[in-house]
Order: sequence, then C-alpha cells, then structure tokens
Amino acid sequence: MLNRKDLLGTSDLSKEEILSIIDLAERYSDDNNNHVNNTKILTGITQINLFFENSTRTQVSFEIAGTRLGTNIVNFPLKNSSQSKGETLLDLASTLNSMFPDILIIRHPNSGAVQLISEKVKCSVINAGDGYHEHPTQALLDAQTIRKRLGTITGLKIAICGDIAHSRVARSNIFCLKTLGNQITVIGPKNLIPKGVETMGVEVTNNMFDGLQGVDVVMVLRLQKERMNGSFFSSEREYFHQYGLDEKKLKYAKPNAIIMHPGPMNRGIEIDGDLADDINRSVITKQVEVGLAIRMAVLDLLTENHPLRKK
Ligand code: NCD
Repeated sequence: MLNRKDLLGTSDLSKEEILSIIDLAERYSDDNNNHVNNTKILTGITQINLFFENSTRTQVSFEIAGTRLGTNIVNFPLKNSSQSKGETLLDLASTLNSMFPDILIIRHPNSGAVQLISEKVKCSVINAGDGYHEHPTQALLDAQTIRKRLGTITGLKIAICGDIAHSRVARSNIFCLKTLGNQITVIGPKNLIPKGVETMGVEVTNNMFDGLQGVDVVMVLRLQKERMNGSFFSSEREYFHQYGLDEKKLKYAKPNAIIMHPGPMNRGIEIDGDLADDINRSVITKQVEVGLAIRMAVLDLLTENHPLRKK
C-alpha cells in the first residue's frame, strides 16, 4: 500500500514503502516472464507521458507498463505543443489538469520541475527524472535487480562510480539504498563528486582501486555531458584509464560482485564493452527487464484508491 498521491523521489520513501513496491514488482516480473496476460486492472485510467528530455528505456517501459495494465495512454507531443510557443510549465499543468488525467509521467531537464507540476494538478505524478535531482523508478528497479541476483537488498557494500555530480540516478540510489540499510561508496574524479555528498551518509574516494575493495555491487554511471557546462575531464581515454570499469579494477570487488549501469552506456568510456556483455557479472539487461515490472507496480499502487478500480 502506497498512501501517497505522487512518486517524486526516493528521499521521502520509507523502507516499508520501498519494499511494498519491490514485492509487488516481483509478482509482475514473474507474470512478465511467464507470459501471463495481466488483468487490465487500470482500464479507464488515463496516463499522460510528458517527456521533455530524451529517453529510451524509461519512456518505453512506462508505455508498456501502462498498456499491460490497461490504461489509456497519451504521449504528449512536445514538438507540436504550445510549449514551443512559450507557454509556461504552470500554464501547461493547469491545461492538462482540466482534461482530467489520472496519472502524469514526467521527465524534465530542470531539477524541481516535476514537483512544481505535481503541486498544480489533482492527479498522481511520477517523476521519470528531473535534471540531476531524482529518478525514483530507476533506483527502485536497481534495488529489485540487486535483490534478485544477490538474494538480499540489505547489508551490502555498493560502489557508485563516475559522474556522480550530474546524476539523478546516483542521488535516488543513495537515498533508497541507505534507507534499505546498505553501505555506499561513491567513486569519481574530484570535480564530478558533488560538494557535501558525505552528508548523505556515503564514503567518498577518488580512487577506483580503493573504492571497489570488497564491494558486492558496482554501479557505473555515464558521463552526462549534456549537463556539463565546461570541460570536466581531460580526455575520454584518460577517463577510461582512471575510472572506466575493466577487469583489472573489477578484481578488487568481491568475486561474485555484480555490475550495473542504468543505460545508455558509452562502451570504452565508463565501462569496458566485454565486461558489460559478460552475463556472469553484468545485470544491465536484467535492469531493463525489472524496470518494466517496477513501473507496473508503481502505476498499480498509486492508483489503488481510484474510483474506477472499485468497480
Ligand atoms: C538515466 C537518466 O536518464 O537519468 N537513464 C535512464 O533513465 N535509464 C541515466 C543516464 O542518462 O545516464
């Protein structure tokens, strides 16, 4: 049971709420794997997808999740909308609100934009990534993927590597994994580690060999150049040498450590291509699969009290 209107981040989710989403997603995950036809429990519910930033995995999986549960999906056409005519975000929010949607799924380049819209509309809002603030469904799917592969999602040592400063995935994961009782180390070059990140309860190091020592999970992040103004590293080759995950660095982690990446990945920059494809270590495609189940669970739980579901 999720007693909330919106899912804007993981920072305010309790352990019980996180586990209730993951547990339900586990059921959806089994259904998806067994080709079980989901009962269309969300029939009649209108879901609008508003993606102000590019997306492959997140947008498509929210679309498939909605379809499997029976929602009516509207993909908001940004290029042809009044947004390109200068309409403000709040005017857009009140326009959409007047059309009685039940759920809005929003990705926006500005941190805080999704919350702003959520305060203006009556329906549920799911944050599909806002600037470098939060990306809650990514963190939830990461937690579930870890639990599936390692059998637990508590008491683990987890390294998050690379461009932490520009990553909403890192922030949402830190909140979620800390709440679940894990020990986290962030690893990256000084200028890609946000100031004061220690206050989030994580260890910090600029050295991959130190940071990967004995970890159960290695989470690798993309260099998010679209959010960098100026140059943050000397060359991609140098970055790979110091921070790219390869066999040599991975040896410092536990022998059964798993490799994760939210995608899209840049092979040869933050991760060695062969390692990313190594099905014994890498769970990158599993993350995508689990993402669908998590999004089904979130849609289901946020609309639990909707009048259409009482019928
Ligand atoms: C991430 C995002 O958009 O924040 N991707 C995703 O949702 N799978 C990470 C990224 O873009 O690097």
